[in-house]
Amino acid sequence: MAETTDPHEILNDPVRLIELREIAKRVAREAGELIVTDRPTALGVADTKSSETDVVTVMDQRSEQLLRERLAELRPHDGLLGEEGASRPSESGLTWIVDPIDGTVNYLYEHPFYAVSVAVVIGDASGEDGWDTVAAAVYAPAMDEMFSAALGQGATLEADGVTTDLHVNDPHELSLALIGTGFGYAAQKRAVQAAIVAELLPKARDIRRGGSAALDLCFVAGGRLDAYYESGINAWDRAAGQLIAAEAGAIVSGEIGEKPGKNLTIAAAPKVYAELASCVGAKTR
Ligand code: IPD
Ligand code: CA
Repeated sequence: MAETTDPHEILNDPVRLIELREIAKRVAREAGELIVTDRPTALGVADTKSSETDVVTVMDQRSEQLLRERLAELRPHDGLLGEEGASRPSESGLTWIVDPIDGTVNYLYEHPFYAVSVAVVIGDASGEDGWDTVAAAVYAPAMDEMFSAALGQGATLEADGVTTDLHVNDPHELSLALIGTGFGYAAQKRAVQAAIVAELLPKARDIRRGGSAALDLCFVAGGRLDAYYESGINAWDRAAGQLIAAEAGAIVSGEIGEKPGKNLTIAAAPKVYAELASCVGAKTR
């Protein structure tokens, strides 16, 4: 039986939010350790393209399987939505949205910007914007960095045995802002994204393409970026990172006045949000 009749009660229950955040951290860490320790030695960029993709897919699937099994044990009444197809309906009103390896191309190249993203959301997780994240963790195993947040409780980074509260930077204008973004896999989509970058680049301090949307959002939270935007990302790419960024003081939206979604996700330090959103917003449609 589900543990509560009204899932919204959790929004006023800091102890349960802390418990959910701890579960997110625990399973993200376990999956992160798995993808590092069980990484096949054959995996490397010199392999043929199809076999690289296959091996990465196997590790994606194994990571998602671990997340699926652990969450079924720890939170049997919650739903699940995962990038690799995991799907379980929710009895409790809460659903876990997981990305078993965000930054798969980085993982392939042993570039450290890849992460396991675990979020628990309230509402209807089958759609784009009928849900809100209540607790989340993003674990980057190659850097041993654990980003996490719970609604109303702030965001932290745990690294080298130290826990640091996260706060966004305070750049005063776009020309002083370091902006992260990402690109989809389809050539046609990339052509549109490149046109947006061409317009934005002369207006910003600089642009970074890290390769993991989940980490880009955490980097905004931790001040390694001043803002991030991307068009085309899925719920599992952003569900955890968008709460972590918001809890660190970022403004998070889709188009101005809308929730983040596939069309557009923006997370920005408050003083550069409007300028960035007006520059990238209309062009993503
Ligand atoms: C991708 C990464 C990347 C973003 C892409 C995503 P994946 O996820 O988050 O940074 O630009 O839009 O699809 O494929 O590595 O899980
Ligand atoms: Ca992803």
